[in-house]
Amino acid sequence: MKNVDVFFQPKRIAVVGASADSKKIGHQILKNIIDGGYEGEIIPINPSAPEVLGHKAYKSLSDVAPGVDMVVITIPSHLVLGAMQECARCKAKGVAIITSGFGEVGKIKEELELKKIADDNNISLLGPNIFGLAYAPAKLNASFGPKDIYPGKIAFITQSGALGIGLMGWTVMKKIGLAALVNLGNKSDVDELDMIHYFNKDKNVDVILIYMEGIKDGIKFLKTKIEKPTVVLKVGRSSRGAKAAASHTGSLSGSDKIYDAVFNQLGIMRASTFTEAFSWARALSLPSPTGDDVVIITNGGGIGVATTDECENQGLKILDDPEWLETKFRPTMPDFGSTKNPIDVTGGAGVEGYRKAIEIALAEEKVKSVIVLYCETAVTDPMGIAECITELYDASGRQKPVVVSMVGGERTRDALTYLNANNIPGSSLVDGTVSALKIVHTWRDIKARQKSELVIEQLPAKINDVFDAVRKEGRDILMEHEARLVMELCGVPTPPWAFVQSADEAVKVADQKQMYPLAMKIASPDIVHKTDVGGVVLNIRDGQELREKFNSMMEKIKQKQPTAKLLGVNLIKMVSGIECIIGTTTDPQFGAAVMFGLGGVFVEALKDVAFRVVPFDEKEAERLIGEIKAKKILEGFRGMSADKPSIIKTLIAIQKLAPYVKEIDINPLLTNQNGSYAVDARIVLKSEGSSTSNHGH
Ligand code: ACO
Repeated sequence: MKNVDVFFQPKRIAVVGASADSKKIGHQILKNIIDGGYEGEIIPINPSAPEVLGHKAYKSLSDVAPGVDMVVITIPSHLVLGAMQECARCKAKGVAIITSGFGEVGKIKEELELKKIADDNNISLLGPNIFGLAYAPAKLNASFGPKDIYPGKIAFITQSGALGIGLMGWTVMKKIGLAALVNLGNKSDVDELDMIHYFNKDKNVDVILIYMEGIKDGIKFLKTKIEKPTVVLKVGRSSRGAKAAASHTGSLSGSDKIYDAVFNQLGIMRASTFTEAFSWARALSLPSPTGDDVVIITNGGGIGVATTDECENQGLKILDDPEWLETKFRPTMPDFGSTKNPIDVTGGAGVEGYRKAIEIALAEEKVKSVIVLYCETAVTDPMGIAECITELYDASGRQKPVVVSMVGGERTRDALTYLNANNIPGSSLVDGTVSALKIVHTWRDIKARQKSELVIEQLPAKINDVFDAVRKEGRDILMEHEARLVMELCGVPTPPWAFVQSADEAVKVADQKQMYPLAMKIASPDIVHKTDVGGVVLNIRDGQELREKFNSMMEKIKQKQPTAKLLGVNLIKMVSGIECIIGTTTDPQFGAAVMFGLGGVFVEALKDVAFRVVPFDEKEAERLIGEIKAKKILEGFRGMSADKPSIIKTLIAIQKLAPYVKEIDINPLLTNQNGSYAVDARIVLKSEGSSTSNHGH
């Protein structure tokens, strides 16, 4: 990991390419550094100008006393390597390369050369291809973006430059307070992980917000430690992975679902739009609620109902204690008001009406979060309401989250601006307001997670022996009985089963193991589609039927595929339950991953599956199960419900295999009140020589 302090606390900054020409980027960056009020030493480097913007300039970095903390390079790309070598000679600690024209246009070799110099000389390299960075606590604006940022406690890390510059101005307009704005550009060296770990320790930062197009080093990213609320807007949803993969699990993956998994697992909150990302970042500076109960205060019935619906939709719990609500809130409203939560102080309520209700909501321990709603009326002044909320919130010591939604015209817009400037999230859209409150609850839950250090375990020797035997025969796909054996060895619950080679043996074992009704399937390395040759018989009820079906199956297959080597049959006790699918895949970025979803005929159409990257623990497996949209079905469907502990057990067992195989599909895993059973499993081994994924993670 690289040390990035130098970019935020530099004592000496040099700008290579500082020009007196105001149209040039090197000029604008120097001007921003000066105008921003940076108090350290500023050193312009320019081959011909003796002085730039009132600061003595040097012809080269070599003319400057060694030990510059941060060098900003803004000269044409063919000159950057030379400048980087000079940075090394003069012992610069951090270098921000503004210049474009490297990896992003295919000049990978040139970019790697810069990275090598950085690594060899213990330099932290930001960029190339960036607009720079700004850090409000140090009054530092080393960017060619706008002069000012609206100071606050969000660190905004952006891969894209243009977007970052654009958003700089937008955040000022929206009163979104930034402590830092950093453009990562091509990320040849310093990346999100370095920044997150720095801001985790930075007391000037409360919330981290990342705009990301992709991750360069997935395995490194998995080491990220989330200590502060971290929001990501990851764009570029791709189905590349899905196309490349042939298996069930593979076709359901696609790298974007794996990104979802990684963010969920690390505790990073993924937003889907810019508005949502910034609204969340703003809300996450609110205190965490100490419980779930939400009280809604409104002057309008309609907006109250819409907000209640949205709360239910987003999983927020409305405080539901009619007697208590009546006792507490009745005195705050006229007779025709409602205390049912939403607390409707009615359309005639002015500042005083709101004041009484808000005071109670803030003071009462039973109320854990507050939503204030307001529809602009002629008899009330929205700014008065906004000021009242702010005053009461400050006076209460900001102990619980408060969010506000106001609907109205220009006066309301100004009131919302006032609220946001005072760090009370205000929006004209109720869904945005509810989502802002929901994310505060989500972060509270993430913070409460137990963090354990997990390692990828060695493959048990007995399973390795099975894999070796398969490879020795020149195969990479396990036969059914081999896959079943592996499932058993790694602790996946399976229905009673047996691999038998004669009708006599079949009847004997089926009786012994009480396997009726059972399914019988042919075992042959030469038969891929068993059903097509009559190699599958279901619902066999007793020994006599088993003997008959065994003999007729053998005869039929010998006729249809005379050359096939018939090893015997697999007998499997028939079980019933809700159909699930569990699988593993190998993501090119993040390594081995495990998938869970509902199985059955709709699985591929609905793609209602979710992933976790290996390794993960039981709690994470439980969250994975709770992530699929159809999770309600698992709670009870047609008289059946899922046995979650055994699904979790299966997920944990499967993840131990995942790094050592190409893919696994347990399809279906049937689950009912009594347990879960891997009814069918397909295991494909990695081609020999390919390495175990997720190494060192
Ligand atoms: N040391 C110091 N100064 C030098 C050196 C050197 N080795 N070599 C040249 N210079 C000076 C030049 O003389 C010039 O100063 P002058 O005006 O006094 O003569 C200055 O450095 C700049 O050099 P130019 O050749 O004029 O280069 P120019 O400013 O036109 O372009 C730049 C340089 C801006 C880095 C350009 O190559 C570039 O990459 N532009 C794109 C930047 C960008 O967009 N980055 C991504 C941001 S994100 C986004 O998309 C917004």
